[in-house]
Amino acid sequence: MSILKIENMSFAYSANSRKVIDGLNMEFEEGKVYALEGRSGAGKTTLLSLLAALTSPTEGTITVNGENVFAKDTYAYRASDVGIVFQNYNLLPKLNAVENVELSLDISGRDVPDKKQYAADILRRLGIADYDLERPVLQMSGGQQQRVAIARAISYDPPIILADEPTGNLDSQTEKDIIGIFDELAHRQNKCVIIVTHSKKVASMADEVYSIDEMQTRRTPGVQVKTAV
Ligand SMILES: Nc1ncnc2c1ncn2[C@@H]1O[C@H](COP(=O)(O)OP(=O)(O)OP(=O)(O)O)[C@@H](O)[C@H]1O
Ligand SMILES: [Mg+2]
Repeated sequence: MSILKIENMSFAYSANSRKVIDGLNMEFEEGKVYALEGRSGAGKTTLLSLLAALTSPTEGTITVNGENVFAKDTYAYRASDVGIVFQNYNLLPKLNAVENVELSLDISGRDVPDKKQYAADILRRLGIADYDLERPVLQMSGGQQQRVAIARAISYDPPIILADEPTGNLDSQTEKDIIGIFDELAHRQNKCVIIVTHSKKVASMADEVYSIDEMQTRRTPGVQVKTAV
């Protein structure tokens, strides 16, 4: 059963501009990693913004567990159904790692007994050393900031995780570590993980790989270009 479903969705940034997304149909299940590929400007970030309900489709629908996302409270959807790891992290630079995760918990309204401890535990699980927990995120490396961004997205335990180029600027070992985190989230914790990526390594660990370009040019709904073995 799919958790997230896109039906006949089109999107244009303004009434007289071209459709960035044109008649798209896709389905996503829990327990799987999906890699979304496509050339720069193909509409990958736009598609994630739509899946995150940060913007609404011009035509068509997105449903979560059979319910239209845009008929729901989209704030509540973002606070409980989806976790978003943005292309540029979007962390609050002056706050430390723990505070960034605590803030995300606050926004989601999730009530945990010891918020600071809870946030620190998630960060440790993602490989942030004790020494780094209370450093301003601006002083952290790209790989560390990426881990904090993932910690923030998973802090309130959403079933869907959206990530935009999460390994874009990372060295090969850090990329491997980050891929391991997504692997565990989907395959051990049963999350639906959707990753926009150019990385061959991410594509090879993904359960399904989709090319946005292929889907748009062929106009074939949900065509799958290749499946990782
Ligand atoms: N806020 C906006 N207003 C108008 N057009 C936009 C806006 N954001 C993106 N676009 C346009 O929509 C198209 C798709 O952009 P998008 O950012 O989704 O591409 P992308 O596939 O994520 O590219 P990249 O790989 O470079 O991140 C591009 O032509 C872009 O110029
Ligand atoms: Mg993008």
